[in-house]
Amino acid sequence: MKKITKVIVAASALLMVASVAFAGGSQQKSKVDVGIVLPTKDEPRWVQDETRFLDALKGQANVELLFSQGDSGKEKQNVETLLTKGIKVLIICPQDGAAAAAAAEAAKKEGVTVISYDRLITNTTAVDYYVTFDSVSVGKAQAQYLVNNLEAGKMGNPLYIYAGAASDNNAFLFFQGAWEVLQPKIADGTFVIKNSSEAIALQSKKNLERTEMGKIIGQITTNWDFNDAKKKAADNLTAATAKDKGRVYILAPNDGTARSIADEFAKDKDVTKYFITGQDAEIPSIQYIIDGKQSMTVFKDVRTLVRDAVKMATDVLAGKTPVTTGSYNNNKKDVPAKQTEVITVEQKNVKAALIDSGYYPASNFTGLK
Ligand code: GAL
Repeated sequence: MKKITKVIVAASALLMVASVAFAGGSQQKSKVDVGIVLPTKDEPRWVQDETRFLDALKGQANVELLFSQGDSGKEKQNVETLLTKGIKVLIICPQDGAAAAAAAEAAKKEGVTVISYDRLITNTTAVDYYVTFDSVSVGKAQAQYLVNNLEAGKMGNPLYIYAGAASDNNAFLFFQGAWEVLQPKIADGTFVIKNSSEAIALQSKKNLERTEMGKIIGQITTNWDFNDAKKKAADNLTAATAKDKGRVYILAPNDGTARSIADEFAKDKDVTKYFITGQDAEIPSIQYIIDGKQSMTVFKDVRTLVRDAVKMATDVLAGKTPVTTGSYNNNKKDVPAKQTEVITVEQKNVKAALIDSGYYPASNFTGLK
């Protein structure tokens, strides 16, 4: 690592000299090698990523991390700010995959290597690499959990489905994975969808086109927003009759939306039991799982994702080609990608997966057994 640091320092010094010369000595670029841009501080998921980045980068390349606060305009500005500081690698998790193409292109024009982080930037060739979890598996794990909790032989189980933001490519991958597992059980009458006419219209089709998924997601989207999720769940429960309730199954796309949807279902007197999925292993959701208010989450070990992104960045800075394991098509190119697996967490393995593994301290929770 020492050697790489030296290379980085030397390269940065050179760059500084070059920029001073270029600007006629009037302006000096400050020394930031790696710029990181994350979507928002308002969701615990991205605060996790920030913490893990700061841990992983101690003593490594010169880094600056900025949040876009759910705004693609701010995101573009953040990238421009980082470009003026002379970054050579940009690690960016886009707020909106298509809108971020402009920011990626601006970076590319300056010769910066662009790493799409967790969410894919779409519709541009200006993305060099992608580090991601296996997002299709996330959806499959959520759906499989619901299937595993069916009562043997019981048909007509009420199913409520929700999705992420349509501007996030991951929302499609999560839904695709979930649909692959749920659809056969919907087609044979085991589950009955209660809150999406678009999904009902497509329920005999296992492999959906993106435009078909777009129609369903357009109807069941939470926009990754707790308040949107809460409102949608409340509206769905108002529209449903008592016989659409009882023991219900809920596909919720992530932890934040799961908590607000679960709160609505818990309040409804006609809901006798609910099973609800989640994603991200956010601290408040782990407490919900311990308390029996959320059924499961999909644990995405952010330490691994951060380690992969940092390794890619330091490889690029050292002039090496980063290791990738596959590729994702972003509608303009196959982006070389490094992918990480995910783990289903429920009450019975919460302690082993998240506490004993050292991911979270036990003191973050109450009632842990
Ligand atoms: C996804 C991400 C998830 C979740 C969600 C909401 O793109 O992969 O982990 O956090 O966004 O922000």
